[in-house]
Amino acid sequence: MSSVPALVADAVGRPEPRVEGRLKVTGTAPYAYEVPAADPVFLHLVTSTVAKGRITRIDTHATQAIDGVVAVVDHTNAPTLSADGDPELRALQSDRVAFRGQVVAVVLAETPEAAREGARVVEVTYAEEPHLADLRADGPELYKPDNMPTVRQGDLDGAMATAAVTVDEVYSTPLEHASPMEPHAVTARWTEAGSDGVVLTLDASTQSAHGTARAIATLFGLDPDQVRVRSPYVGGGFGSKGMPHVHDAVAAIAARVVPGRAVKLAMTRQQMFALAGYRAPTIQRFRLAADADGRLLGIGHDVIAQSSTVKEYGEAAAGVTGHLYAAPSRTSGYRLAALDVAVPTWMRAPGEMPGMFAHEVAMDELAAACGVDPIELRVRNEPETDPVSGKPFANRRLLECLRAGAQRFGWSGRDPRPGTRLDGDWFVGTGVAASSFPYLRFPGNRARVRADGEGRFTVQIGAADIGTGAVTVLRQIAADALERPTAAVAVEIGDSSLPSATVAGGSSGTASWGSAVVAAARRFREEHGDAPRPGVLSEAETNADEAAQRYVMYSFGAQFAEVRVNVWTGEVRAARLFGMFSSGRIINPRTARSQYVGGMTMGLGSALLEGGVIDPRFGHVVTQDLASYHVPSHADLPRIEAEWLDEVDELANPMGARGVGEIGIVGVAAAVANAAWHATGVRVRSLPLTTEQFVDLPGDLPALAGHPAAYA
Ligand code: MOS
Repeated sequence: MSSVPALVADAVGRPEPRVEGRLKVTGTAPYAYEVPAADPVFLHLVTSTVAKGRITRIDTHATQAIDGVVAVVDHTNAPTLSADGDPELRALQSDRVAFRGQVVAVVLAETPEAAREGARVVEVTYAEEPHLADLRADGPELYKPDNMPTVRQGDLDGAMATAAVTVDEVYSTPLEHASPMEPHAVTARWTEAGSDGVVLTLDASTQSAHGTARAIATLFGLDPDQVRVRSPYVGGGFGSKGMPHVHDAVAAIAARVVPGRAVKLAMTRQQMFALAGYRAPTIQRFRLAADADGRLLGIGHDVIAQSSTVKEYGEAAAGVTGHLYAAPSRTSGYRLAALDVAVPTWMRAPGEMPGMFAHEVAMDELAAACGVDPIELRVRNEPETDPVSGKPFANRRLLECLRAGAQRFGWSGRDPRPGTRLDGDWFVGTGVAASSFPYLRFPGNRARVRADGEGRFTVQIGAADIGTGAVTVLRQIAADALERPTAAVAVEIGDSSLPSATVAGGSSGTASWGSAVVAAARRFREEHGDAPRPGVLSEAETNADEAAQRYVMYSFGAQFAEVRVNVWTGEVRAARLFGMFSSGRIINPRTARSQYVGGMTMGLGSALLEGGVIDPRFGHVVTQDLASYHVPSHADLPRIEAEWLDEVDELANPMGARGVGEIGIVGVAAAVANAAWHATGVRVRSLPLTTEQFVDLPGDLPALAGHPAAYA
């Protein structure tokens, strides 16, 4: 079946500790802002205080008077950037303001303090124009994007009109911020071209050294190999560092003022809420039509999502609708609103996460309406082939995840009625949701293997480890491909001068980079045998994934939640989360578990805590710090457990592995919302779930009989 021979699995499968763990926990791994530089210059951003309009004047007199200020760069003196550049990166090019919080000037100074103070006293005058910053389901500004898929199969309206049971509801998800611990930061330096031709070096916090080098090169009209991007250590990204943001561009712009000197810029935590990208809010109409037994006759998913005027970003929430369940009719599509707001971007499971919330809460509503157990409902709607393309699924194991998960979680014997369990003053309920994430292996990844003598090897690939364990896992893969112990192999990543690699995104890293590493190791052994001379090397590049042409390939999972809701206050707490996943072979149980549990933790954040709030009057996110934008802390976390099916996906790649980075977040919010409904009878269709949604409880809940809260 497999097009490539499978890897021996010796190091692969072992719970190896992180290669760079000690450096990180001892604070000695240098992050982008911290790379040593003699005589650095510091940069601080000046950002717009209006949401739309024109800059009429920038007065820098007070700034120039501050000791240590080197220069102010704004649209009047910035270099002209290529019109082919990413519009989000084309900073300081005109007097136009497109959103509140946009960079309108930058201050360079000899100290971070002088730069910050200098930025504070830059006086910018605006001619303000009316703006639009609230996403509405009925706005005239909504448009159908050209490059997002529309699905039309069968007659959904007919099915909705005649079906025994229907669900037709609107689900909404908020703006969310990735909030990695390491802020978006960069150290930029222009130099004379050396022998490698590099003129601009960026030490960047990025999920893609090569992608960032390409984007910045385009911006400045350079060849990609004239820009070198290094990112060996990245303190979290979650998608928000998948593409460069404006800080990378303005650092490079500012560094032109001080050639030869390193310019350092780290976004403040507050600036990250506007300039680092965010998960776009959505309003999703979700429809289900079913017969009395819960067999689906139709699925409809109409997504409205926030985009920006600077750049179109489509939150692909309807991706889930195509492959999850069988149904003879199916429609899905998108409308976007290009608002006067900051630019959205990828955030862990972009599309799938908000889409699955709508899909799987709707399925829970259908289960309740039909009187069918939620797991049995999914069994009844399991498709034989991919419903949209008709292609076979490879390794579709959703039902196994649901069944094995149900057993491990303790699902059987669950009373399907809501509001039947009270523990003291807490309602208790359980919920389930499916999870899925596409299998992605990107072509065009290159790896190099070099013999270092004395049985040691170095493997090089421009991959990124954003805290996932990628470098550790690549070493295990390389060791097995070379048939050497892991201790004999060093892996170098995070540098655009290394062989080209694709982004640490789409949960594609292990598959994409690992395939290149295996190919390079195999070529090395062909070319140099088992006793290579020191210094010899081999390279190999991967091509397109053939199996992905013939099969529809996804990872699947089942998310279970136990939720407690306080009878008096409506406080919602997760008591327990359990996820059962199918991701192909697990290369490293320690780092994979950390990915699953981390994803589920983030899912719990989306369920109960995270929701960015835009004030439409001013157009910016007002919850722009971690005191008002809440992510889960230790005290918020229940017991979170993840397990996986023991499997090898032989169709996927030589490692037999799919991805683990994103599937952990998908479905958690739905499982929690479904459990909260089961606990209380209150159906919440907007994230996050909050206390006030559970204050007015249905009066006839069985568990309330005799409880003082029933008479309150
Ligand atoms: Mo992930 S949101 O694809 O970096």
